[in-house]
Amino acid sequence: MRVKVGASILAANFSCLDRELRRIERAGIDFFHVDIMDGNFVANITIGPGVLKDIRKITKLPLDVHLMVKNPLEWAGRFIAAGADMLTFHAETIRPAAFSRYAAQIKKKGIKLGVSLNPGSALAKIKGMLSSADFVLVMSVNPGFGGQKFINSVVPKIKALRNIYRHDIAVDGGIDAASAKKVIAAGANILASGTYIFKSSNPRVAIKNIRSNAVPMRVWNSVPNPHWNGSLRERYA
Ligand code: DX5
Ligand code: ZN
Repeated sequence: MRVKVGASILAANFSCLDRELRRIERAGIDFFHVDIMDGNFVANITIGPGVLKDIRKITKLPLDVHLMVKNPLEWAGRFIAAGADMLTFHAETIRPAAFSRYAAQIKKKGIKLGVSLNPGSALAKIKGMLSSADFVLVMSVNPGFGGQKFINSVVPKIKALRNIYRHDIAVDGGIDAASAKKVIAAGANILASGTYIFKSSNPRVAIKNIRSNAVPMRVWNSVPNPHWNGSLRERYA
């Protein structure tokens, strides 16, 4: 199984975003990871649905929208309308019942919904959301800024999650060749990386370095993952 690699556009030069995104797309990523920050859930502000709508026009790659906002339900619809293919809510911002209700609602639209967990949050926080989430995004830095150092203590959490969860596990924050190796060995199969890809003198090599650590899925599970056999694979094809 091939690990999916997404580029976190937070590390791009926003004064020439068009050129930046085309450059990284050509280097061979599977999707763009788009960080949305509201200056409330995290201490930073990024972009809104208007910018996502423009990004949608210049790429056909899936847009994975990571909502680091205090009230994700207030924003989700606008980002879907702007062209998001995948949305991630933080477990710290929504209760399981509301998450499951919303998941059922957007499944009909073909949008994938993930739940994310801060480095300091325990797995218990997402237990009630696992059955309705299409994927889990494990944060390996405290959200808010790109270019931070990978937090090693999340690795056992990824392992523990892989033991109880057979769908996609994504990791975001401080991903480079070395940290990719650790999280893939722990069971992650989707990686979002910003600085390591965008600031590399050779993004194609950077992406290859991340992927080269991919191990066959059977190391953690013999049951086929429905996403890779179905809709997500088509989306990524
Ligand atoms: C952190 C963001 C990450 C970040 C990743 O708040 O959610 O997506 O941009 O960037 P790097 O790879 O630079 O840590
Ligand atoms: Zn992110």
